[in-house]
Amino acid sequence: MYEKTEGQASYENAEDQASRLRQQYGRLQVLEREGEELSLSDRLRAMNRPLLAWYEAHARVLPWREDPEPYRVWISEIMLQQTRVEAVKPYFERFMEALPDAAALASVEDDRLMKLWEGLGYYNRARNLKKAAIEIQERFGGRMPSEYEDLLSLPGIGSYTAGAIASIAFGRPVPAVDGNVLRVISRVTASREDILKASTKRWMEEELRRTMPQDAASAFNQGLIEIGAIVCVPNGPPKCGACPLASICLARKQDLIGEIPVKTPPKKRRLEERTVLILEHAGQVGLRKREDTGLLASLYELPNVEGYLKPEELAEAFGLSQAGVAQVEALPAAKHIFSHVEWHMKGYRVTLEKGIPERYLAVDKGRLQSDYALPNAFGRYTKLINGG
Ligand code: ADE
Ligand code: SF4
Repeated sequence: MYEKTEGQASYENAEDQASRLRQQYGRLQVLEREGEELSLSDRLRAMNRPLLAWYEAHARVLPWREDPEPYRVWISEIMLQQTRVEAVKPYFERFMEALPDAAALASVEDDRLMKLWEGLGYYNRARNLKKAAIEIQERFGGRMPSEYEDLLSLPGIGSYTAGAIASIAFGRPVPAVDGNVLRVISRVTASREDILKASTKRWMEEELRRTMPQDAASAFNQGLIEIGAIVCVPNGPPKCGACPLASICLARKQDLIGEIPVKTPPKKRRLEERTVLILEHAGQVGLRKREDTGLLASLYELPNVEGYLKPEELAEAFGLSQAGVAQVEALPAAKHIFSHVEWHMKGYRVTLEKGIPERYLAVDKGRLQSDYALPNAFGRYTKLINGG
């Protein structure tokens, strides 16, 4: 485990902080008068008090919040990128038990790491975690750095994650602008800047860095993220009636909620047709290990090729001619969406008479779940392996 760092040692307890914040921010509310618009900075400053009060009362109890130790904050923030809180919880607990600190993460075997990450998707996040853990050993003496710039220099840590770790674990007054915050701040300020542009994020980070409460960065950042997650929600209409920022929010006042945030539609995904096999022989299935670069790098997979093949084409395409194909059963179609590609899959269960060819890894069905990281992309078919 980490020793407590300076940033944490100076933490006040939650009650002291709450009382101090009430005193400081209770007096600072900025009121908007009829016909007199707030400047951008004043509007952002006006969020501080209601945001902190709301967060104190409404923050969800989450495993990484109870003990905001730097390593825990880091792992949770990486898992929470592109994955919902409820889905992350069990992974987080399991990961912490298996790899309780950066030293353990730095020396974990890749297969084991992939197994811990199995199902979360975006496996490069896990690979970067390990790379960063190694750098933490080599460059920072095994301690998570507390400075924003140092954090930013680590693999897989961008401005959002660096800000989240620096503020939540070390109390540093830096913003943490993710997609949630981009949406909330765009609406509060009625900004029509495209939130998918890097320049919009930079603009917002610069403004918030100046206006955010310098002594309550953790609660402020998490409050904004939380509002984006459960009030000013990503899908569907925002719950303005329950929003602590409603009286400050310009998009609401000007009836622009349907138009803001502005997002240019991302490029279309490429569609790829694939044929996937469950290769079976005597209680075993055939797996392959993927290349160590590219999509789903170094994970295991069910044998598959590009294109839809007919049953009579399988033996040649998959090198099964000598293996004695006893039976071919068509399986349901499946689809998996990656960020840039969409797989449309057809599957077959192929039962072999003479054994699984050497080019595949023959694995006992019973050990599949426990020992091999099979990506979700094949989930529809891996589910069909045991019990059929
Ligand atoms: N999403 C991203 N970061 C989060 C956090 N710290 N708490 C809850 N949801 C989050
Ligand atoms: Fe979002 Fe409504 Fe709150 Fe504005 S008032 S930040 S639109 S939930």
